[in-house]
Amino acid sequence: MKRRLYLETFGCQMNVLDSELVLNQLRAMGYEQTDTRDTADVVLFNTCSVREHAEQKVWSRLGELREARQTNPTMVIGVIGCMAERDSADLFRKFPHIDILCGPGELDRLPGMVHNAVLNTGTARARQSALMGKNTRRSATLHAAEDTLESLDLSRSFSPADGTKQAYVRITRGCNKFCSYCVVPYTRGPEVHRPPQNIIDEVKKLTDGGHLEVTLLGQTVNHYHYKHPDGRTTSFADLLYQIHEATPHLPRLRFVTSFPRDFSREALQAMRDCSRICHYLHIPAQSGSDRILRMMNRGYSADQYLELIDTARQLMPDIAIASDFIVGFPTETDDEFQQTVALTAHCRFKNSFIFKYSPRPGTHAQERYPDDVPEEVKRRRNNELLALQGNICADNNAAMVGQSVEILVEGEGSLASPPTVDAGHVELAWEKKKQKHPADHKQLIGRTRGDQIVAFHADPSQIGKLLTVKITAARQMTLFAEC
Ligand code: SAH
Ligand code: SF4
Ligand code: F3S
Repeated sequence: MKRRLYLETFGCQMNVLDSELVLNQLRAMGYEQTDTRDTADVVLFNTCSVREHAEQKVWSRLGELREARQTNPTMVIGVIGCMAERDSADLFRKFPHIDILCGPGELDRLPGMVHNAVLNTGTARARQSALMGKNTRRSATLHAAEDTLESLDLSRSFSPADGTKQAYVRITRGCNKFCSYCVVPYTRGPEVHRPPQNIIDEVKKLTDGGHLEVTLLGQTVNHYHYKHPDGRTTSFADLLYQIHEATPHLPRLRFVTSFPRDFSREALQAMRDCSRICHYLHIPAQSGSDRILRMMNRGYSADQYLELIDTARQLMPDIAIASDFIVGFPTETDDEFQQTVALTAHCRFKNSFIFKYSPRPGTHAQERYPDDVPEEVKRRRNNELLALQGNICADNNAAMVGQSVEILVEGEGSLASPPTVDAGHVELAWEKKKQKHPADHKQLIGRTRGDQIVAFHADPSQIGKLLTVKITAARQMTLFAEC
């Protein structure tokens, strides 16, 4: 009998990819995925530690499982990912029903641990943990070829029958930047770059299997540089050219997340020169104040960031740029926050992810700087920046009405379209048209090359295809189109 596995994923794209790889391995060992958590044989949470809020979600899931475990005593519970690495001892103490803790740097050991736990539930239930812990820095000298984690990425298997057209491919693990607020260098460990041939082979395999979009992943993806044993170096720009050339049938190649200080002109030129690389950048600014950027240890000034955005736009006038911001960083004044507002207004991002500062145990900022911006002020700044970005999104989207764009259809949607103040009139026109759709048509959702979401009505057989559609209406976060 197959054992049932429930796997829930939190956090960033790295975690989504890790979950896919873990699932592949456990499927090969005879586990089947289930959506029903409380009666599963194995429950795994792949967790994120980046803000306290991300951890709270997992704490409440673990709390709920106490009861489920009593009625289903052979259930194996595992916490994997960044939170396991960051909070190991405390997690076992707070939630004694956890069987397995496995950090993101040790996931190759997870299948063995799960199997072991499942076999022992009836007899000697023993806690198991695989964490990098204090070895984090020691493994900095590891060469990717000797990195056991490489085997996890290399083991990737997929079936063209599952119909997925989008895939993530890791090019770099870990992070060396140590931005003062961030847990990632502690949870994911030091930066390790994968050998270019392994990356190219993986992208080729996915393309041959029918994938239409590949997103290269790294915490600072554009910092990629691989030193070959013979002393040669493959830079990020080299890698982009090589992947593009090796996969002529891949219509879309993109990458996230870029680090402002690490962009070479060559990498931007590679984006411009390779027609199938999407003109899309996610390049977090974090703040518009030089003093706050220094306290964050970001290594660039607001002016340097603005210059980079200008260069990218000169080379690719149609580029869509997304950013991240942290508001209410310790000691941030109203004036400094207004510099962030000004930077946002100037850059007119396609989208911004805006977060209230959350002190993370063990980070430099948490240890050195009191979290002195009141919650109320953080909330106000968050809302002000969100409102500004919302207006920019609405303007950018309204300007696209009438254009024809290429979209990759991702699936069915259920996007309501309540009129908004900004785009109410356009919205209304769309509502009227909606009545005319044939009964077998459903709302489908696709994405443009610039990562904008497009909703339209068509036959669900269009899912997984590249289509050119005409934008007929716009809302802050969504474009509406007709085939
Ligand atoms: N590697 C990426 C992003 C990592 S985390 C990069 O460097 O750009 C994603 C985002 O979470 C960050 O860009 C930052 O805006 C936010 N973030 C990270 N730590 C945070 C913290 N302690 N409090 C609030 N937001 C945080
Ligand atoms: Fe965190 Fe900074 Fe690394 Fe991004 S670059 S993962 S924010 S330490
Ligand atoms: Fe979260 Fe870890 Fe990603 S902390 S953002 S899951 S690298």
